[in-house]
Amino acid sequence: MDIDEIEREIERFDAELPIASAWTPPSTWYTAPEFLERERSAVFRASWIFACRADQVRERGARVTTDVLGDAYVVVRGDDGVLRGFHNVCRHHAARVADGEACVEELVCPYHGWTYNLDGSLKSAPRSAGLQDFERERYGLVPVQVEEFGPLVFLHAGYPERTVAEELADLVPFLDPAELAGMRWVLRRTYPMQCNWKVFVDNYLDGGYHISHLHHGLASQLDLTKYKTEVFGRFNVQTCPSHEDPGASVGKDLGARIGEGAVYAWIYPNLMLNRYGPTLDTNLVVPVGPDRCEVVFDYWFQGDGDDAFVDDSLATSDETQQEDVWVSEQVQRGLNSAAYDSGRYAPTVEHGMYHFHRLLAADLRASAL
Ligand SMILES: [Fe+2]
Repeated sequence: MDIDEIEREIERFDAELPIASAWTPPSTWYTAPEFLERERSAVFRASWIFACRADQVRERGARVTTDVLGDAYVVVRGDDGVLRGFHNVCRHHAARVADGEACVEELVCPYHGWTYNLDGSLKSAPRSAGLQDFERERYGLVPVQVEEFGPLVFLHAGYPERTVAEELADLVPFLDPAELAGMRWVLRRTYPMQCNWKVFVDNYLDGGYHISHLHHGLASQLDLTKYKTEVFGRFNVQTCPSHEDPGASVGKDLGARIGEGAVYAWIYPNLMLNRYGPTLDTNLVVPVGPDRCEVVFDYWFQGDGDDAFVDDSLATSDETQQEDVWVSEQVQRGLNSAAYDSGRYAPTVEHGMYHFHRLLAADLRASAL
């Protein structure tokens, strides 16, 4: 697909129509490698994205790496207690400086030993004696912005117009970051999926439409007649209270996990925060290829918790996720079908999804200018 074709495919999505008249983005958005390439610069390098959990970088010297579509970053807590982020690329010959999670005193490139202080400045460059026009202070790791929001750390590789706190100010009444920061992180699980990252996001943003069809356990707990989606700038929130008679339809009591109900917050482009009573899980949808992604789940619980409750919650979450994996992979196959081009929105429920597609279209168009 050449650049003119990509532009045409981007323009085929009309973000001005009312939802009842709108068509979903054409399937090329979900299948063409060139679209993913465009999203890397237009979306992932131009948005606040989830970098790591705050508990991973609490100690001085703690550092964590993260990767999005080949872009490598490292987040590190300095000796001065300040949290910083950098491109994880050595200024010498572009090797990856850090890998995984560790507590360190400096960042040493494994290739030729160029060594950086935790504030990113170049500390030493072995065998660089005699190098001309080499001002060491100009060869620090290239910084990116980082910001903590409760238990989460975000990074921005570009020039954000707003801080995370500003962007998510209206989220606080639904999910208070100070309260979430007091929860106990228990486990991370990663689900590889054979679908475009947006298929999984779309599935999440259908306003509960699929719950009664696909998630029978969850459907018996939630009063889906009260399911609600509220759209904000670059995030939206779906809420649904618990059913008054939970568990009756499938003979399974998930009530303790669900509590008063569910809060599902989606933060553009690829992060979800799911709050059920005393539990929180976050889902990061990491694009891997046009038809591949990974969903990284982190689970938090309130209080010391009992192990049986935690185990039950994790099993319930896994069941729901397996159902979402199954359907998302089905959808990806369908998007490749010659019989399908674009679809429609159910106007009363799928406005969260339309919100996502409009934000995406705006970013893709802006990047074409
Ligand atoms: Fe689902």
